[in-house]
Amino acid sequence: MRVLGIESSCDETGVAVFDVEAGLLGHCVHSQIDLHATYGGVVPELASRDHIRRLPALVRQVLAESGCSLAQIDAIAYTAGPGLAGALLVGASYAEALGMSLGVPVLPVHHLEGHLLSPLLSADPPEFPFVALLVSGGHTQLMQVTGVGEYVLLGESLDDAAGEAFDKTAKLIGLGYPGGPQLARLAERGHPGRFRLPRPMLKSGDLDFSFSGLKTAVLNVVSGPEWKPEDAADLAADFQDAAVDVLCAKALKALELTGLSRLVVAGGVGANRQLRQRLDVATRRKGWRVYYPEPELCTDNGAMIAFAGARRLAAGEVPGMACAVKVHPRW
Ligand code: KG4
Ligand code: ZN
Repeated sequence: MRVLGIESSCDETGVAVFDVEAGLLGHCVHSQIDLHATYGGVVPELASRDHIRRLPALVRQVLAESGCSLAQIDAIAYTAGPGLAGALLVGASYAEALGMSLGVPVLPVHHLEGHLLSPLLSADPPEFPFVALLVSGGHTQLMQVTGVGEYVLLGESLDDAAGEAFDKTAKLIGLGYPGGPQLARLAERGHPGRFRLPRPMLKSGDLDFSFSGLKTAVLNVVSGPEWKPEDAADLAADFQDAAVDVLCAKALKALELTGLSRLVVAGGVGANRQLRQRLDVATRRKGWRVYYPEPELCTDNGAMIAFAGARRLAAGEVPGMACAVKVHPRW
């Protein structure tokens, strides 16, 4: 069975073909970074229009790379939410229309389920059950995962997501869009510890997070009388240290509380080098193991959506054949 996956929830158009026996046959992502950079963030209308422009050519390209024709596609999976309504609608209408014309089932997939299952696409995938730390631009969640579709929310951010905090902090210290990776790069040149930023909810006793206070603490530093732009690298390092401290501590606590020994880290912030190093060391010490998606599958992509769709079909989900273009921006 071959599943065509389509991702268009935000500023990346992703397309992939996943074969249940042969694995990932091909995938391609078009990033809209250049399109939005001038505005310092994603402009939803521009994002939707660009998805429309890119999707047909990307589908043709991925099919060619996969050595597969449209007639050999058995199902289509697309991101139905959460995300930007207009951007999601592009992927949803494209997928539903293509599915109807081919007479194949079409599956709406939850974007976070895509991220959460993405480490299973790697050469050395984790077995169920595991704890998943989902750290993206829109979400920060800890989940107990016992199988496909079997997810228990253990804790989540009560305000900003971790990626959002990276992006907003990057903006505060004068970095461009997309801020998270730029802040992480700048932090590598800095020395943490000078600004004594808080570790929100570190000792809250639960598995929830809060990042907006950390961002406000950065705002107070950069609007204070002693702020010098040449200290930006040290401030970036301090911020990253504080965010990573909390993410690590809560992820380890989740493993302890559930009695599980496998941790999966997924979502854009999962690409953060310091987070990975800290989690690797801390889990090794305890005899636990941490799994990440392949680096190119950390951020948004069609492969994780095709894969989640394929796993859902394999688990017996029966998608409706009626064409219904429905998206769930706040799913
Ligand atoms: O999963 P993703 O591609 O999209 C969403 O579903 O949100 O995650 C994007 C987020 C952005 O906030 C971006 O700044 C952040 O992931 N990000 C990073 C790094 N790479 C991407 N944050 C920290 N360090 C990184 N290296
Ligand atoms: Zn994402």
